[in-house]
Amino acid sequence: MRNDYRSAGFDDSGWDDIEVPSVWQLKGYGKPIYLCAFYPKALSVKKSEIPSIDQKQNEVGVYRRRFTVPPEWAGKEIFVRFGAVKAGFFLYINGKRAGYSQGSMTPAEFRITEYLVEGENQITAEVFRYTDGTYLEDQDMWFLSGIYREVFLFAEDPVHIEDFYPKATLDDRYEDGLLDIDITLRNFTGGVKEAAVEAWLFDGHDKERVGAAEVVIGEGRSHLWLRHVEKNARQWSAEAPNLYTLVLCLTTAGQPVVWKSVKIGFKSVEIKGNVLTVNGRRAIIKGVNRHDFDPDNGWAVPRERYYRDLYLMKRANINAVRTSHYPDDLLFYDLCDELGLYVMDECDMETHGARRKNVPGDNPLWKNAVVDRMERMVLRDRYRACVCFWSLGNEAGDGDNFKHMRKAALALDDTRPIHYEGDFDLTKSDFISRMYPTEGIVRKLRGKEEIKTSLYDNIANVLAADNKPVPAEAYKTKPVIYCEYAHAMENSLGNFREYVEDFEKNDHMCGGFIWDYVDQAIRVKESGREKWLYGGDFGEGATNYYFCANGIIGADREPHPSYYEVKKVYANMAAKAVNLRKGIVEIINKNLFVPLDGYRLKWAVTVDGVTAQEGLLDELPAGPLSSCQVTLPYRWEELPAGEALLTVSFITARDTPWAKAGYEQAWDQFLLRKTAPAPAPQSAGKLTASDSGRSIQITGEGFRAVIKNGGLCSLCYAGKEMLEKTQPLRPNFFRPLTDNDREYLNFAPFLSGVHPLYQWKRSSKIVTPVKQTLTRLPGGEIEVEVTWFAPFAKHIRTLYRFRAGGAVSVSHTAAGVLLPVLKIGLRAGISKSLENVTWYGRGPHESYRDRLTGAKIGRYAMKVAELEHRYMRPQENGNRSGTRGVKFADHTGAGIRIDADFGRSFDFSAGYYTQEKIDEAKHLHELKPDNFITLNLDAGQRGVGGDMPGCATLHEPYKMKPGKKYTVQFIITPLVP
Ligand code: GAL
Ligand code: MG
Repeated sequence: MRNDYRSAGFDDSGWDDIEVPSVWQLKGYGKPIYLCAFYPKALSVKKSEIPSIDQKQNEVGVYRRRFTVPPEWAGKEIFVRFGAVKAGFFLYINGKRAGYSQGSMTPAEFRITEYLVEGENQITAEVFRYTDGTYLEDQDMWFLSGIYREVFLFAEDPVHIEDFYPKATLDDRYEDGLLDIDITLRNFTGGVKEAAVEAWLFDGHDKERVGAAEVVIGEGRSHLWLRHVEKNARQWSAEAPNLYTLVLCLTTAGQPVVWKSVKIGFKSVEIKGNVLTVNGRRAIIKGVNRHDFDPDNGWAVPRERYYRDLYLMKRANINAVRTSHYPDDLLFYDLCDELGLYVMDECDMETHGARRKNVPGDNPLWKNAVVDRMERMVLRDRYRACVCFWSLGNEAGDGDNFKHMRKAALALDDTRPIHYEGDFDLTKSDFISRMYPTEGIVRKLRGKEEIKTSLYDNIANVLAADNKPVPAEAYKTKPVIYCEYAHAMENSLGNFREYVEDFEKNDHMCGGFIWDYVDQAIRVKESGREKWLYGGDFGEGATNYYFCANGIIGADREPHPSYYEVKKVYANMAAKAVNLRKGIVEIINKNLFVPLDGYRLKWAVTVDGVTAQEGLLDELPAGPLSSCQVTLPYRWEELPAGEALLTVSFITARDTPWAKAGYEQAWDQFLLRKTAPAPAPQSAGKLTASDSGRSIQITGEGFRAVIKNGGLCSLCYAGKEMLEKTQPLRPNFFRPLTDNDREYLNFAPFLSGVHPLYQWKRSSKIVTPVKQTLTRLPGGEIEVEVTWFAPFAKHIRTLYRFRAGGAVSVSHTAAGVLLPVLKIGLRAGISKSLENVTWYGRGPHESYRDRLTGAKIGRYAMKVAELEHRYMRPQENGNRSGTRGVKFADHTGAGIRIDADFGRSFDFSAGYYTQEKIDEAKHLHELKPDNFITLNLDAGQRGVGGDMPGCATLHEPYKMKPGKKYTVQFIITPLVP
């Protein structure tokens, strides 16, 4: 036994130190493994062999430390608690085995009194990377292991409160709070004891004694119940998270022994017919899925991350979180209680890679394990105000074991609806739950039509179930919820607005949870440089690469552009035009419980992006679920010429934990007046042109331009070259493929040679001038027309018109044929000195035709480098849509301005990497900047999509139509400092 590392006397002097909580793969031991739907090789998935683990591939982490029990604990019962250990562990105290636990996302507590000695004690945890429990933990996340949540010792009197469940609900009228407290007492004295419990409720100002009872308790456990009605209780909701503090005091022999306290909230979550209600009112879940993950520490998430994550959620009008796919750290729930977020608490149970193999299915072998997981979550979290739903797990197939889980949950708590997406006969879930419904399925769900678990109706689960229909009947009692939708994998989240409009219009559609909140990338620092790593980067073998990055915020917690779309679309306040001539606007309050007295309305009328008039309304007299009309005192007649827009912003009137007063929580924008097309800039002077056949040179006063092989390759203003001559302005059809563009390439990258969208990369390279003609126009202007050839495209024509002062009008047209069209426009390299950008159009962040609602039209200024959005896997990024005009200037203010011609706005993007470079790079750190700026000026590009994981599934309006001619038209003029 002395040779056994578990024994107390084993020489551990050579062991390394490790910080706890942590996961050991991120502390330098072993490799992280990322798979999205499979098991690590160590686990056999042969049906006849399940469960079995190849122990040669298993890892064991032995943790040991010494501790001394404080003298005042003498005579007490002593326990040790492990908040979470993955995957399972044996506990040894002074070399004696004190217990075992698996089920790695919920706490394990051990009574260790009898193993302890006076003075120094030794505690050892023998942690296994894989156990048979790992079969139930096949979530789409990194496989990591260790002791990664809180660990502590605690002592209790021999008679103590072991647990208590304050069930806080509302009466039928949603007025009074009902509090039922179920107290579990434990008696270790070996005799009979008299005990009394008193309960107090603090509401922040006053305290109230709300119950007391006396009992005689024998050995073991006994229960005690207290009941209280809180008249006109302040209710808890995500909008108004009113909490009370409940304090229990246990006395034995007339002496107080212990006080225990939790925060509670009175609320009721019900399904009435097929409508989800909170405190009696129809609620919409504007949710996100969140992995409890940190790029440096895995699941040992630092405290400040929780604050940041949840503040960012509140700032973006998110009102709900599904704890995909396991219970989170305790701090998460504390903050959801306090800040107000509806939580779908999900059991640590997913068997993705074995769900077709009756794991857990109806196999009795798994019954106790899955019931245990469910019970431990409910026991840990049932007192929480924020927990509104229990979820039985994720992607684990179907079978009777889910009935057992449901029953076990309801026995411990009957106040929350139960969710399970994989419930194909709808006997376990109170919701009709779907993931990633595409348009056709949405239509059926909206119309309460029968749907099937078939390839067409439920792609996500087709491998798990056999074609069982959801009858139209089921819609009568079950709301539709999307437990995952709007797959936000990097540059994605297209047509998000459409989903939420459905929730708002259809009472039986109670909302959904975006997939997902935060990227699960791992950060490493190598020689001072940060690298963001994903599946495959640890040489771990089979992987699903970057499928771990689906967040609306990055792993570093910086918002992705999609975050702002979510913020706009999820907002609970909106403005609607009533009579814009008279400044009359309707203010709509979509909140269920709170008036708008926390907000002020800031309004501004801008002309061509410059504020002309503005004001502030202090009062927004719209109660919950109602609206009001306000008149904004702008003076239409006084507006200067140009495009006039009205922007109204709902700004916070007071500081909140997540934002200072003055934060813009919601906004809307209205077009008051369009711009009349500006007359072409006229300028006196003479233009000369020379045409050598292949190259045309045009010279005017203080300006010279060269077109060679159809492409504008030189543009000099006042002797300064604006263009990079190796990168002429040429037609372009390509964008570095987004994850959604890549579709099957996400899984089979080696097939890129045959992916149709890569034809556009070739077309953009091959594109050759067919004809280049120069015409002198009667007014002295010079026109050059270039027609082009490129595979899979037609009608490609670029028309330049040069004017004496150096103005160049460009009109470019093309149509794609046969293939799905990606993009139509022009690209060029411009001088790297032109690094100061200002533009008037949508911004400040990137936008795409199906994700632009959150980008306000305005005037913005940035450095070129800031236009880029750094997705973990480099891809198309940084597009600015609806651009009316953009300027690129050097440090002196010299440069070019590009204005939309004839009111046709365009898309632009600019950055230091060519599209080919971006497309080839697999990581950000591989990208080396060019010494010029790549500028894209586009008639348009297709949307980003995102209904389904890694698939564009574009809605009709967001496609670029094959055969259709698209035109981008703009005027380039010099910027004079
Ligand atoms: C779902 C799954 C998530 C994640 C997502 C794809 O099927 O529940 O865990 O894998 O697909 O990103
Ligand atoms: Mg899965």
